[in-house]
Amino acid sequence: MSYKIAVLPGDGIGPEVVNQGIKVLKSIERVFGDKFEIEYALVGGIAIDEKGNPLPDETFRLCKESDAILLGAVGGPKWDNLPSQLRPEQALLGLRGGLSLYANIRPIKTYNSLIFSSPLKPEIIKDVDFIIIRELTGGLYFGKPKERYKKNGEYFAVDSMIYSEKEIERIARVAFSIAQKRRKKVTSVDKANILETSRLWREVVEKISKEYPDILLEHMYVDNCSMQIVRNPRQFDVILTENTFGDILSDEAAVITGSIGMLPSASLGEGTKGLYEPIHGSAPDIAGKNVANPLGTILSCAFLLRYSLNLEEKAKLIEEAVEKVLDLGYFTQDLYVNNPNAKRLVSTEEMGDLIVKYIERGEIND
Ligand code: IPM
Ligand code: MG
Repeated sequence: MSYKIAVLPGDGIGPEVVNQGIKVLKSIERVFGDKFEIEYALVGGIAIDEKGNPLPDETFRLCKESDAILLGAVGGPKWDNLPSQLRPEQALLGLRGGLSLYANIRPIKTYNSLIFSSPLKPEIIKDVDFIIIRELTGGLYFGKPKERYKKNGEYFAVDSMIYSEKEIERIARVAFSIAQKRRKKVTSVDKANILETSRLWREVVEKISKEYPDILLEHMYVDNCSMQIVRNPRQFDVILTENTFGDILSDEAAVITGSIGMLPSASLGEGTKGLYEPIHGSAPDIAGKNVANPLGTILSCAFLLRYSLNLEEKAKLIEEAVEKVLDLGYFTQDLYVNNPNAKRLVSTEEMGDLIVKYIERGEIND
């Protein structure tokens, strides 16, 4: 089969980590004969510089026509002082909103070899394996009014947190369906003691849970959840939450994995088209130095194969390769420091090569 993949490297470390992801997809092509038609487009700060728009029309069109989208990262200090509609981050919102990619999937998993890379105690993070399902096209990010205005000589600003029943229903179904293939527990996170959107959220999630009698549903306030994630993260299987809460909790939870550089994500809508990106961002301080961890992107490629192209076996092979390389103690800089399991410090490119080696030979020899 042939698939069309839009590749948007973006800014900072985006291009270098995306290169490793592409290298891995090409090795899957070589080994299995699938055909990935890869087309590049501009996004974020580099698109502002070259086209005056963080999400140029031709980029959006390419994404619309593709089976899946791989994105590196956007943003950097160079573009930080632009007006809000012209900021690189706007491209992400444009893609999420414009393609209705309402379900953001962010897995949090401990790798045994990285247990000492986390600042949390090994006994706390051992065997943690949960998924955050973050609603991605509603809430504060998209609600209107969203503006600044002047009244009696003083500035005011407003962002609107809005959720419709339908928006909550569809994301709840995603969470329950994913839980069915896992340990069958959903923790819905809200602030229902204060927020009206959260009260509706809780009611609708309760209603949808009736369609999934095999799933255990619990509700948790977001402030408590942020504490539970570092106190007893093993209690979680699937966390379901709204846009802003999910943004914050997923960065917090990333600490469990040892490095935010490890974490992939998938953003999905109704069909199989999806956007895949590491959650780490553009990290301008280490850009261009060949030291960034490409595993978040490589694991995002595994997600791309799984959720958009339905190539589960190949997705699993990539995940197995990542596990094997880490077990052997080959670590990029972010994982290497203070880790007694570290055997060799590797660069961004070397890490990509090691994954490719495993995919092509089923082993990694020195
Ligand atoms: C994320 C990022 C984005 C978000 C930013 C870059 C707009 O933090 O994907 O978590 O807030 O959603
Ligand atoms: Mg974030």
